[in-house]
Amino acid sequence: MNYINEAKKILAKMTLTEKIGQMNLVDSSIEKEEELLKLASEGKIGAYLTYERDTSSTQAHKKLIEASLNSGVGVPILFGRDVIHGHWTMFPIGLGMAASFNAEMVEKAYKIVAKEASDNGIYWTFTPMMDIARDPRWGRIAEGFGEDTYLSSRLAEASVWGLQGRNREDLGNSDRILSCPKHFIGYGACEGGRDANTVEISRNTLLNIYFPPFVAAIKAGAGSIMSGYHDLNGEPVSASKYLLETLIKKVCGLDGFIVSDAGTTNHLTNYRFAADRKDASGIAANSGIDMDMMSSCFVENLEALVKEGKVSEERIDDAVLRILAIKLRLNLWNRPISSLTSASYKISPEVYETAVDAARQAAVLLVNKDSVLPLSKDIRKLYVTGPFTDAVKELFGTWVIDGIVDGVDSISDALKKKLPDTDIKFNTSRFTDEVLNNSEHSDYVLFLGGESPLRSGERNSIAHLNLPDGQEEQIISFSNLGKKVILVIVAGRPLNLTRVLPYVSSILYVFHPGTGGGEAIARILTGEVEPGGRLPVTFPRSEGQIPLYYNSIQQRKARACQLKYIDITEKPLFNFGYGLTYTSFKLSNIRIQSNSIKIGESAKASILVTNTGEKSGEAVLQCYIQDCVASLLRPAIELKGFKRVQIPYGESVTVEFVLGNAELGFYNQEIDWIIEPGKFKVFIGLDCENTIETEFNLVIN
Ligand code: NOJ
Repeated sequence: MNYINEAKKILAKMTLTEKIGQMNLVDSSIEKEEELLKLASEGKIGAYLTYERDTSSTQAHKKLIEASLNSGVGVPILFGRDVIHGHWTMFPIGLGMAASFNAEMVEKAYKIVAKEASDNGIYWTFTPMMDIARDPRWGRIAEGFGEDTYLSSRLAEASVWGLQGRNREDLGNSDRILSCPKHFIGYGACEGGRDANTVEISRNTLLNIYFPPFVAAIKAGAGSIMSGYHDLNGEPVSASKYLLETLIKKVCGLDGFIVSDAGTTNHLTNYRFAADRKDASGIAANSGIDMDMMSSCFVENLEALVKEGKVSEERIDDAVLRILAIKLRLNLWNRPISSLTSASYKISPEVYETAVDAARQAAVLLVNKDSVLPLSKDIRKLYVTGPFTDAVKELFGTWVIDGIVDGVDSISDALKKKLPDTDIKFNTSRFTDEVLNNSEHSDYVLFLGGESPLRSGERNSIAHLNLPDGQEEQIISFSNLGKKVILVIVAGRPLNLTRVLPYVSSILYVFHPGTGGGEAIARILTGEVEPGGRLPVTFPRSEGQIPLYYNSIQQRKARACQLKYIDITEKPLFNFGYGLTYTSFKLSNIRIQSNSIKIGESAKASILVTNTGEKSGEAVLQCYIQDCVASLLRPAIELKGFKRVQIPYGESVTVEFVLGNAELGFYNQEIDWIIEPGKFKVFIGLDCENTIETEFNLVIN
């Protein structure tokens, strides 16, 4: 179907008031029921969201959508919801999903997310969040895919495909919903890690580090984009014609619509960028915002602004056509209004297994001294304690509105079932002395620690990255008592592990793993499966090193005497891409198919990976490049490929990466994608430092 042509037919029948109504996204709550119903019957609501559970099954929801269908030309209201990393079944938070380095898995998970949301009458979600984040103090680092542009781009694309389907028409299917990649652009670079703070990013970094995930998401078919709360390089993002009209609509070719984040239009007055709400409405609409979230500015002011000639009717028509075309593509007129509820939904065994596997692939084994993990069958006694001992909902992470808790195993529940013959003593006490004294019975302490979901996510930035108060002291005390401490950390960000590191035998970092977390962690601890995650973000040793990320422009070794601190090493505690397995791998025979590649052709690089351990295992191969001479400063190394391969013990596998225009080019200052001839180095390995290298020349035809 030609959605724009169909949309034009509807638009032709709409009044200006109804058109502007489409540009209005409201939030609903019980108190606002009557007010919203009135607005809907006047055609003044285009979309709505709510944070209440199971809302789509209520009479209020039904009435609201019906009112929109009975008003004017009868365009249905689009119901949206923050279904961020799961609806009823929770998958790991974004950072955990990213640790999987597995786009297929992410696509599969988001397909389940879309089906559950759609079954619940939710046809639009404000996902994926793909803000590059180089600062773990920022609470919202939890929601995104970490610090790397390439990884974020592949996972953004996979999320969009999972939610919307791979073909444009798939969006109309009953099991797909509209995605909304966010928060355009640079939101993760907020000063001091304080949420929604000012951002300053060079044009080179903006275009080559922060922009590509949005390009990938839009190419994958994303039908809407959310602009951020923040200001960037001197302009509020949600009032920047350059960012919205030029970058998203022109360069990326978004044919869907741009929605502002909550209240950003109104906030233009707080920014002292607009004199009042009316002024703000004109600025936002003229900058390219198509739908205003939760400020009512558009619906109050745009009509007058059009009549005064301050906003053109063409701009309004452009915005409304974009919204209508997406509603048509979504088949919104034919989607059921009310729907299944969480009470009538049961997580199927297949969905549960996918959630468990996702949680397994999110779990990063950071330390494993003397191979203490997996737990040996000889460990007859185990002491389990720490704040996550009986946690279930706390495993889900930030942004959980509808996640089902009933019937979901905690880590301890799952562990008990796996180790029926082990004498396990659980202690959930909050009193340190009690926790310590009761550990007498075992030489091994499994400490289930980390941070509550309330300590990460929106508005939850922190200045100190240590484990929350008291946990480090307990861990150190256990070690001083001679115990071997196996530390599992549930968290929404990289925490600072420097202090506890000398006192623990192992660290399994699981982020917030979701519904499958308890089972996945128990399987990993007992060796039924291996930990599958690799770090999607650099772990600093100290807050003073922030921002610390692997793909910096300057190379440490080239300026060793300057790029350093005199009181601490400049090196991270754990590298990007790092993660141990229950086996070991050797890398050899790196090859490049030809040393001279013509521009437009692809370089094929391969490596031999040998499983040198005693178990079959999964290697996550990462391919990095260095553009050795470029006309704009490029990162010293940057990820351009990753592959997860299962290698039986004692065997070797050749893994190949293809590097073409998409991998070898970059945006110049004019926003053209350029590929420059010259030498490229290729590094393939198991994390960003543990690589072997080769090189080739890119030549002009
Ligand atoms: C604020 C958040 O920044 C955004 O991520 C979210 O989707 C919207 N509000 C809607 O809840």
